[in-house]
Amino acid sequence: MSPARRPLPPSSSLPPLRSLNDQLESSILSLLGSLHTLYCPLPTSQAFEANSAPKDLPIAADSGYASDNDENSGDEEQGFELRDDPYERAFAERWLTGFLGRAEDLTCFESDESRQGAIDKASSVLASFFSQDEEDLEDTEITRDYHFTLNLDSCEIERDGESMGSQTITVQLTDGLAGRDNADHTDVGLQSWGAAFVFTELMCATPAQLKFTKGALGPAPRIIELGAGTGLVGIALGKILPRVGVSSPTIIATDFHPTVLANLEANITKNFSSTGQDKDAIFPTVLAAPLNWETPDLSPPLDKQADVLVATDVIYDPEHALWLRDCAARMLKPNGIFWLMLTVRTTGKFEGISETVRASFNGRDGLRNPQGRVLTILDEERFARPDGIGRGDESEYRLFRIGWV
Ligand SMILES: C[S@@+](CC[C@H](N)C(=O)[O-])C[C@H]1O[C@@H](n2cnc3c(N)ncnc32)[C@H](O)[C@@H]1O
Repeated sequence: MSPARRPLPPSSSLPPLRSLNDQLESSILSLLGSLHTLYCPLPTSQAFEANSAPKDLPIAADSGYASDNDENSGDEEQGFELRDDPYERAFAERWLTGFLGRAEDLTCFESDESRQGAIDKASSVLASFFSQDEEDLEDTEITRDYHFTLNLDSCEIERDGESMGSQTITVQLTDGLAGRDNADHTDVGLQSWGAAFVFTELMCATPAQLKFTKGALGPAPRIIELGAGTGLVGIALGKILPRVGVSSPTIIATDFHPTVLANLEANITKNFSSTGQDKDAIFPTVLAAPLNWETPDLSPPLDKQADVLVATDVIYDPEHALWLRDCAARMLKPNGIFWLMLTVRTTGKFEGISETVRASFNGRDGLRNPQGRVLTILDEERFARPDGIGRGDESEYRLFRIGWV
């Protein structure tokens, strides 16, 4: 089968505005054509859309925050995901606004006619954003089933002397975008991010490597997720642990944003209620709780230390790593593990932030616990961004194993 052509995410395909004069007229027109195809699709048959796609569109390897690489997730669905991705849309909106502000002065256009054509195309994409805002406000909540293959072979569990092979676990998530106030940039946890998918895939592929086994955790460990967002990691753990023999875990997914917490709570209920799809499953204790890393309130249910802390894509501000270090120092048992999966973004305001993890956890003022041990990064592993996962500005992921030494 030949690869399908679909637009790349704006964040990874649009050139910096300051370099517009270095572009060829044809590439600017092609980029505007791609944005138009993405955001103003014609209501025609699939065959016409395929034929009318600009010929020089790059082939995409990224579908926003989608993780389901299964056969059913066709290009059309991935195009929808990209179109609905608020980050990508905001990026495109800023770029188009900047483009229109500069268009009259750009020297790369060979004629006034082509300049006017470009201005018209950019204006029509921008105009479509504003009309969609009004039409779609009620209709932007997306619920999806995500499937993961849980490999039980490495988990030291056997039934009738036979290894257990693998099982599929399904996590149903709502990305709570409905009624979202676009001016609120603090509700990033209403979407699931690439790092959460990469970490969940890893937990399922090699649970023993991450010490998610009965041997390592016992039957009733306490696990706390920090900055849980939609709750993918915590909910997946609630499904994985009973299947690897950890029968009674308590998993507490925390976040600080009230709307994010409400959505998180709804996602937990959806996945662990007897009327939900997983009717025969054993129900572990999975809770949502408020926690702000900057001013942590460790009252119940967060009053007991955790055997495991987990967090994905929670470092995107220079202060985050220090806040998380101080929280972890209070919340992690002396022999506990903190799995921290960082998303590396090397552009714009995120440049350099990934380095704050090492500086904070292994800095000179490392935190000591009452036993005199220091919270330290024990291991670091890098993961490339897999096809179909994450956004265009996510260059790689780093998994830190943090503990007391
Ligand atoms: C980029 S999202 C990642 C969400 C989720 N872990 C994932 O990977 O999909 C960052 C999350 O951290 C939360 N967050 C940001 N600052 C926080 C703080 N000071 N205290 C607690 N949570 C915070 C946000 O509300 C959001 O849910």
